[in-house]
Amino acid sequence: MFFDTHTHLLDERFDETRGQIIADFERDGVDFVIECSTDAKDIGQSVRLAETNQKVYAAVGIHPHTAGDYSPRVKEEIIKLAKSKKVVAIGEIGLDFHYDFCPRDVQQKTFAAQIELAKSLNLPIVVHSREASEATYDMLCDCGARGELHCFSGSAEMAERYLAKGFYIAFGGSLTFKNAAKVVRAAGAVPLDRLLIETDCPYLAPEPMRGRTNQPAYVRYVAEKLSEIKGVPAEQIAKATRENAMRLFNISED
Ligand code: NI
Repeated sequence: MFFDTHTHLLDERFDETRGQIIADFERDGVDFVIECSTDAKDIGQSVRLAETNQKVYAAVGIHPHTAGDYSPRVKEEIIKLAKSKKVVAIGEIGLDFHYDFCPRDVQQKTFAAQIELAKSLNLPIVVHSREASEATYDMLCDCGARGELHCFSGSAEMAERYLAKGFYIAFGGSLTFKNAAKVVRAAGAVPLDRLLIETDCPYLAPEPMRGRTNQPAYVRYVAEKLSEIKGVPAEQIAKATRENAMRLFNISED
């Protein structure tokens, strides 16, 4: 069974299919997912989705695209929501210098505040970093938080720097794309006990499903690619990444 550590099932693209996808993902080999919230509107909804579906967990936080939304009121809401047993992380949080939807100084301020919040709540962080590799590392290297780099797109050297700081590294559909040589090298540098897999659905559907709406069941293609890169059976990738997710997010078996 696979653990998909990063979904956005609340996305409107799932409005017609959400119930069915959640009902089916277990049949399709996925036994847990973490629904990652992005903005101030959906943090409460992601926790409700987790509380009403046994196999769904939630990460609550403000994405760099909407970093300007973070406020004392939002912070209080996150603290309140984090009391739920189904909230297992603060995320997704980080820096996005590709789109720059929010000024960089605001992104950095909100990221720093949420790292501190995660530490005070004793929760791991789910980090989004796009074209902000060094800036993200600068903020994480001595921050003292636990967590993972989601949909990792950095170099093998950068992966090693994060590993040395205790972070986990998650790979998604982009690992399977034809131009993925750099990400493939990074995956090669991550030991089995620090790897995570994810879909980031509905985005980034892996080959051979590229172009379709991604969904948790497609996480198997990421595991297959990792199996090829690592030279170990896909079952072993599934088992290791599932155990890693249970450990990082402090989820117990039943
Ligand atoms: Ni995401």
